Amino acid sequence: MGSIRAVVVDPSAARGRLALKDVARPAALPFETLVRVKAFSLNLGEVRRAQTAEPGWRPGWDLAGVVERPAADGSGPSVGARVVAIMGSAGSWAEEVAVPNLALAELPDSVSFAEAATLPVAGLTALFALEKGGALLGRNVLVTGASGGVGIFACQLARHGGAHVVGLVRRSERARYAHEAHAHEVVVGENLGGAERFAPYDLILESVGGKVLTQALTMLKSGCGMCVLLGASSGGEVTFDASRFYLTGGVNLFGFELNEALLHTPGSVGLSRLVQMLDMGVLRPRIEVQRPWQETATTAHELFHERKIAGKAVMLVE
Ligand SMILES: NC(=O)c1ccc[n+]([C@@H]2O[C@H](COP(=O)([O-])OP(=O)(O)OC[C@H]3O[C@@H](n4cnc5c(N)ncnc54)[C@H](OP(=O)(O)O)[C@@H]3O)[C@@H](O)[C@H]2O)c1
Repeated sequence: MGSIRAVVVDPSAARGRLALKDVARPAALPFETLVRVKAFSLNLGEVRRAQTAEPGWRPGWDLAGVVERPAADGSGPSVGARVVAIMGSAGSWAEEVAVPNLALAELPDSVSFAEAATLPVAGLTALFALEKGGALLGRNVLVTGASGGVGIFACQLARHGGAHVVGLVRRSERARYAHEAHAHEVVVGENLGGAERFAPYDLILESVGGKVLTQALTMLKSGCGMCVLLGASSGGEVTFDASRFYLTGGVNLFGFELNEALLHTPGSVGLSRLVQMLDMGVLRPRIEVQRPWQETATTAHELFHERKIAGKAVMLVE
């Protein structure tokens, strides 16, 4: 059977509770493809979870790599194919993974492993969360956390879909991230005051929580406005004016969770669409750092504790 190396939660590790360790080589089920990982990206959610997870937990949802052994049932790509995948059950930060065929998509040569590795969680979340709001043509869309992995993709996709896009970033030095992601307007601050002048919104993609969510719920368009809540980066406890919310009339608050969304649309379908848009130049991942995977723990620390990294951090597996 043999062993491979993987990033594993280790509370005694010097940095980020993460260490590279030997683990058992994955055994693929008949509908799973064995993939040699070439790159993965870090997401705030999994890095946050690694801070409290039990020893031995293996983080990692995103990966791109090469098919080592095709699925035994004959479905899926052939040996040597370049693929991107999402591991719903985590564990992608490893040399080899077994991925269900419904969670992977093939890559054209024009898309690098590093670019592809940014897509799974951040890209699928942006894509599926935007689709909760329906058609985008001529709609007014607000994206909070617009300097982050999800936010940057969401601004690009909403703009491509024909929406008027307003992005919220909390620090002025990161306003350019949202501008480069084609937001028409960029509002800076730890609250949504500056976004009021562009309200009401047909759709708000909200990931900051706290005061920002409280304010977002007052800025929805009567009769159709929807707030898709997908994160709470600043904290989960929120108070809001319930009367004002319901008296707006016909507005919705939707709780989005990617694994739940993947029950309705397989990752392979969403990833194929994202790959195509990357290939067409509609999507441009902002890769802020690209490092050897031996530096995963340090990079996770910078992402989570120091908030030094905006956009995506990609680790290369050699
Ligand atoms: N529901 C789901 O299935 C799902 C899927 C993916 C992600 N998420 C969640 O969505 C959020 C965004 O994920 P991500 O991967 O894009 O993270 P990210 O790359 O770290 O981006 C986070 C964004 O939120 C901003 N932010 C963080 N803390 C803030 C605060 N206290 N006040 C105001 N802005 C703040 C950041 O601004 P700075 O650049 O200034 O730090 C950045 O723009 C996270 O909470 C994540 O857990 C949920």
